[in-house]
Amino acid sequence: MENDSYILVIGGTNMDIGARPFGPLLPHDSLPGTVRRTPGGVGRNIAVTLAQLGHKVKMLTAVGNDAQGRELLALGRDLGIDLSHAMCLDGIPTSSYIFVEDNKGDIQWAVCDATASDQIDSEYISLNADLIRGASAVLLDTNPPTDAITCAAKIAYDAGIPLFVDPISAAKATKIASILEYITVLKPNKAEAETLSGRPILTEANIEDAALALLGMGVKEVYLTLGKKGVIAGKSGEELLRMPGFALHPVNTSGCGDAFVSAVIHTYLQGCSLKDKARAGIAAASISMETKSAVNPILTAEALEERLKLIK
Ligand SMILES: Nc1ncnc2c1ncn2[C@@H]1O[C@H](COP(=O)(O)OP(=O)(O)OP(=O)(O)O)[C@@H](O)[C@H]1O
Ligand SMILES: [Mg+2]
Repeated sequence: MENDSYILVIGGTNMDIGARPFGPLLPHDSLPGTVRRTPGGVGRNIAVTLAQLGHKVKMLTAVGNDAQGRELLALGRDLGIDLSHAMCLDGIPTSSYIFVEDNKGDIQWAVCDATASDQIDSEYISLNADLIRGASAVLLDTNPPTDAITCAAKIAYDAGIPLFVDPISAAKATKIASILEYITVLKPNKAEAETLSGRPILTEANIEDAALALLGMGVKEVYLTLGKKGVIAGKSGEELLRMPGFALHPVNTSGCGDAFVSAVIHTYLQGCSLKDKARAGIAAASISMETKSAVNPILTAEALEERLKLIK
């Protein structure tokens, strides 16, 4: 990696606010419990993980000019992410994801205010086109509106910059349906792969069919992640490969997908094989699941190397 090379992350920055009552979740009452606030947003999680893995990271994102937005920008800068091109918008609330769990920890209600991410428009992307063209890789999440996603993907594609995409959710995945041919590496989970390939995944054979369909639609490389069942990885011109998940001390699997794609970018830039990129994804996900927070602060390049010794 050259000193001035950087990875550009384009996507959402959120504040996640989760509440859990001590007893049963009952309506129309104020329940004693815990409320925790954690920084989130798939783009931000990946940007933080890439910085921890030793990369220079720049981010195009938007927050509101409110206490949460300023706090998220300050935290990102402290972690070494270049946020000098991020938008901090007056009169717009920072995107937040608010969820209420039952006392067992299962999410019962969730509301997402994505007003700030909606401001990441194609004009802002075009103004920062040189930042895309100068990157060693671009990671795009599907929080920005479709026109901004399409604009960013086209600029990266025309400039020959490898483009990595995390579709985030089945609902938001539809935003990338028309740009699959611009994508170098796609990391859908099962539901996202079903939406994008247009094929229900009901059997083991369906999983392979969905991965092959995505390659047929123009994606150059795909990592279809399957929770504890691991991943099916494929690349045009190569056999699909299957690798099981790996867990040592699991605490919370949310954010495992973000760690997975971060490690794939990390190893792609080292010129690793499909198998070694998939191994790195599995290893990073297994470290990610060892904390309650979406990003495990101990997920560094050294920790990843150590964990890889346990994965065939
Ligand atoms: N219960 C589990 N046991 C073992 N490994 C797991 C488990 N859940 C997730 N993983 C690992 O994390 C990877 C990504 O998980 P998953 O397919 O759930 O992605 P995702 O839905 O994108 O996750 P995210 O919540 O981060 O969006 C899997 O390929 C696997 O390696
Ligand atoms: Mg995911």
